[in-house]
Amino acid sequence: MERSCLAIILAAGEGKRMRSELPKVMHKIAGRPMVLHVLHAAVSAQCNDIAVVAGNGFDLVKEAVEKGLPEAQVFEQTERLGTAHAVLAARNAINAGYDDILVLFGDTPLVSSETLLQIRQTLATDVSVAVLGFEAEDPSGYGRLIEKDGDLVAIREHKDATAQERKIKLCNGGIIGLSGQHALSMLEAINNDNANQEYYLPDVVEIANKRGLGVKALRADHVQVLGANTRVELAEIENFWQERKRRELMLDGVSMQAPHTVFFNSDTIIESGVVIEPNVVFSEGVTVRQNAKIRAFSHLEGADVGAGAIVGPYARLRPGSKLGDDVRIGNFVEIKNANLEKESKVNHLTYIGDSDIGSGANIGAGTITCNYDGMNKHRTVIGVNAFVGSNSSLVAPVTIGDGAYVASGSVVTENVPEDALGIARGRQTNKDGMATEIRARNAKLKAERAAGESS
Ligand code: UD1
Ligand code: MG
Repeated sequence: MERSCLAIILAAGEGKRMRSELPKVMHKIAGRPMVLHVLHAAVSAQCNDIAVVAGNGFDLVKEAVEKGLPEAQVFEQTERLGTAHAVLAARNAINAGYDDILVLFGDTPLVSSETLLQIRQTLATDVSVAVLGFEAEDPSGYGRLIEKDGDLVAIREHKDATAQERKIKLCNGGIIGLSGQHALSMLEAINNDNANQEYYLPDVVEIANKRGLGVKALRADHVQVLGANTRVELAEIENFWQERKRRELMLDGVSMQAPHTVFFNSDTIIESGVVIEPNVVFSEGVTVRQNAKIRAFSHLEGADVGAGAIVGPYARLRPGSKLGDDVRIGNFVEIKNANLEKESKVNHLTYIGDSDIGSGANIGAGTITCNYDGMNKHRTVIGVNAFVGSNSSLVAPVTIGDGAYVASGSVVTENVPEDALGIARGRQTNKDGMATEIRARNAKLKAERAAGESS
């Protein structure tokens, strides 16, 4: 879009009903603070600059915002005197001069970039105030859009509305677009002459009308303007977010048998052709490449899964897990901070931590890399096509060479050279006839005991 745009995200609210030490906008949807969802939507709607107005928990919000988008500006609203007052906390940003100004709420994370672009397109048609309205089933508490002959004449807050006005179901979703040219002078004209004695941003509608500037109400689906005031509402929003993500992925070629049991993080990347079985959780930082399969009841975090790989059922991939193409990770296997080259297999009941595993290597059931000595973490290196027998402990730092074998049940404390067989366990001895002797001895003891008890 040719026009320049500033997005102002209001995030100063206390959010008492969250019953939390965290500022409300720091509560997460899909693993990401709500305020950052709004920020990303604004970036996707090609806003050139972003200003966040914080108050409650200022430092925490500022830190999160700057981490999410270093060039965002964060302003402080020291007193909560209303939404128009909050917007004016970003006065210095507004002063830089923009074609469009979008005012968004930091606790309304489901607004889409398409909707924001629609508001911007409306501002491009000589409209100075564009309001995002929605039809509320229960409108109580919201500002009502008062229309006359199809024109938006005012927004009346619930507390200030007449009984007649309260019957209106078309409400203010909170997101408002302003023409940059008129924004400051309209905002400065807002007073606090109302039931709450607050400076109401929606009053710009009446001011614009008085000045003969264009005003327009757009309609959005109510989901886009859902705000989270309690943890119950937070969970509802999470649910909508997950639904949206699942749908998006399925339409992009990802298969899920029971999509409602699969949970994604805001940064999850799943490529096409991937199959996800029921009850899988993707935590932060996961990429799953083409045609891989994530089987039931697996938990993935900070993991990169190669094309065609199979993970699970019941697998756990922890941060730093990097699986090459066609790797196999089976049931009850935990992987952490490890590179597994293509076609390597770790199929059953195993812990692989701080390791490098060569292509084609096979790690037997019950193998443990003993990576931690209580003080430091050490690496285990397993070569190309190496074979580690079941129930082995690999005490790091240790290297198993390319093509080497480790006998099952070994506790490996020294390196195993390339193509060698490492055996590190007590040697087996067989005593001929010993079992027969033991059985006879036990039978005799049993008979003696029985005789003792009956006498
Ligand atoms: C607001 C609208 C209402 C709309 C509703 C939609 C006003 C006056 N009313 O009402 O028309 O239907 O949203 O949800 O705008 N904030 C600050 N500083 C302040 C006051 C608010 O940063 O001084 C922030 C809050 O943190 C919140 C947002 O602005 O993110 C909205 O404030 P809130 O008090 O929730 O307004 P509502 O009463 O819900
Ligand atoms: Mg609100």
